[in-house]
Amino acid sequence: MVQVNDSYLKLKAGYLFPEIARRVKAFSEAHPEAPVIRLGIGDVTEPLPAACREAMKQAIEAMGTREGFHGYGPEQGYAWLREAIARHDFQSRGCEVSAEEIFVSDGSKCDSSNILDILGAGNRIAVTDPVYPVYVDSNVMAGRTGEADAGGRYGGLTYLPITAANGFVAPLPEQPVDLIYLCFPNNPTGAVATQEQLKQWVDYALAHDALILFDAAYEAFITDPELPHSIYEIEGARRCAIEFRSFSKNAGFTGTRCAFTVVPRGLTGRSAAGEPVELWGLWNRRQSTKFNGVSYIVQRGAEAVYSPKGQEQVRALVGFYMENAAIIRRELAAAGLQVYGGEQAPYVWIKTPDGLDSWGFFDHLLGKAHVVGTPGSGFGAAGEGYFRLSAFNSRANVDEAMRRIREL
Ligand code: MLT
Repeated sequence: MVQVNDSYLKLKAGYLFPEIARRVKAFSEAHPEAPVIRLGIGDVTEPLPAACREAMKQAIEAMGTREGFHGYGPEQGYAWLREAIARHDFQSRGCEVSAEEIFVSDGSKCDSSNILDILGAGNRIAVTDPVYPVYVDSNVMAGRTGEADAGGRYGGLTYLPITAANGFVAPLPEQPVDLIYLCFPNNPTGAVATQEQLKQWVDYALAHDALILFDAAYEAFITDPELPHSIYEIEGARRCAIEFRSFSKNAGFTGTRCAFTVVPRGLTGRSAAGEPVELWGLWNRRQSTKFNGVSYIVQRGAEAVYSPKGQEQVRALVGFYMENAAIIRRELAAAGLQVYGGEQAPYVWIKTPDGLDSWGFFDHLLGKAHVVGTPGSGFGAAGEGYFRLSAFNSRANVDEAMRRIREL
């Protein structure tokens, strides 16, 4: 009989969002009359920007002609998209990132998991707590952790608690680590790191030969001009960091699928024999072997994000969700709840009231207000007693959800 990957058996519960969906489905079946509003998973709701739709329509038309047809594209993405990304997202902010260092993909969730393919099993790994669950679960699946304890923390991982006391920005680890996952603007807490805070991490990584996996999927939601959007705005980061970016949240591509990963040339790890090895070459090899690229049509849509019209439309989209976040913050604070985040990020992080635990508050909100959020404990043990609301929804739904919560 075929043997399974036993590491999967170490995973606790289901993946957070399907688990929430399962509970909401059960609730809706029991209460078909209840009009449920979903502010749980961070999935966008507003239509794709017109510039992207137009570019995709043209690409579809081109695909219907012999001259404009595209078969397999480059696994790393088309040069025109990689160049647009390098220019607009990095060079315009003074970051030294070139087109060949951009690897276009179908998602940051996939890339931040797949990156483990090119990293050794012996790395000591640090994650924040709470954390985007994919970083932890992908390590569990890859056999890079021990068993989970009663609190759901896996052996072998270094957990860095992020709390209101440290502004939800992780403290440097007390024991040495080789691989560090950072996410700013942060999912789930909505916190953001300053230049100085990121510099501490870059300095740490350079001093300890560590690698930072920097998830910047929500960078478009930063409004404060003083805050860094990319880790490469920090001196030395090219020598210690890989960055993940996405079109999902800024341009509404959660269903369309397009993202990219930056692997700087000259960024190295070490072989078992102690020789330096360039990570760019390994990732390039991994992608060429296991990935066939994002469709031509979708990449044309992503390219349109960088057109003048696309930029204007994406700014409007992000601005719309950030107004939702401001409404959520304001209304929850008025209802007497302690709120964090939601100012440079589309997530509002709430302290659960009246001693309710995270799932208790989930059930309370769902049962009484028919509003779905995400229990903080689903993001890690230190998320217990917190709750996340997403700003991704229509204005009517956000207003209605807040009205119901206010009246609770
Ligand atoms: C979330 O709700 O945390 C997001 O949907 C995560 C993701 O983009 O995968």
